[in-house]
Amino acid sequence: TAAYENIQTETRGRVGIIRLNRPKALNALCADLVRELGQALDAFEADANIGCMVLTGSDKAFAAGADIKEMKEKTYQDVFLQDFITVGWEKVSQVRKPIVAAVAGYALGGGCEMAMMCDFIIAADNAKFGQPEITLGTIPGAGGTQRLPRYVGKSKAMDMVLTGRMMDAAEAERCGLVSRVVPLAQLMDDAIATAEKIAGMSLPATMVAKEAVNRAFETTLSEGVRFERRTFHATFAFDDRSEGMAAFAEKRKPGWKHR
Ligand code: CAA
Repeated sequence: TAAYENIQTETRGRVGIIRLNRPKALNALCADLVRELGQALDAFEADANIGCMVLTGSDKAFAAGADIKEMKEKTYQDVFLQDFITVGWEKVSQVRKPIVAAVAGYALGGGCEMAMMCDFIIAADNAKFGQPEITLGTIPGAGGTQRLPRYVGKSKAMDMVLTGRMMDAAEAERCGLVSRVVPLAQLMDDAIATAEKIAGMSLPATMVAKEAVNRAFETTLSEGVRFERRTFHATFAFDDRSEGMAAFAEKRKPGWKHR
């Protein structure tokens, strides 16, 4: 919590909050910021007292994308050899604990892509999403051409990626990019309450649930369903599965052992 310059972290009960905090550049995702983000994700992932994370930005910007000023002099050799997105950014998609994106303001380019790496997105009513890379003579490089169509389908994804236009929160909710839209003033309360609800479940259960949903985007229906079935069976080895079903039968609240 102490040493970060481009992010802030905070815990609220079992929820770990990471706030992107580089206001002078609308949270553009420079290398230093992404390195700190990786450290914060690792710390919450390793912390047994954390059951869910929230990734957010400011009221004005979740993140306005990769840092264009940092990228503009890079050569092909540089970006190929450094592969900074694979090495740094993809950590957001690789954490095993649930992570919710709370998006207000701009989520553009890499900002939109980073929000999509989270498990789902809650948007404030002032949120603006877009993949403007085409206007820079390039294309999305952090999953925009792959995750956006999986969220919203081909037609809307092509529209966004080829025109570079922004969509507002209402359109983002209509097309399924975000799970819900809330008034800006309520964004963090809502996101934290949602994360607390998730963090109050059995942690191994939420972790395998996340893994199973993510399989849907990696494989065929029959293989995905097979994975789900085996994983469902495997949950019968969890202490908390016995406890959850016993508690239901006894009309009481479950006392999770593994949270
Ligand atoms: N990189 C670096 N700096 C950025 C930035 C970015 N992506 N976005 C904003 N900034 C900086 C601006 O340069 C400006 O800095 P100065 O004060 O030093 O000039 C500061 O943040 C404030 O921005 P604006 O003055 O532009 O603010 P605005 O309210 O007028 O406009 C905006 C807001 C529409 C978001 C505009 O800043 C913008 O278009 N930003 C760039 C969006 C973009 O193209 N993102 C895609 C990046 S490429 C990418 O992400 C690749 C990938 O897939 C990984």
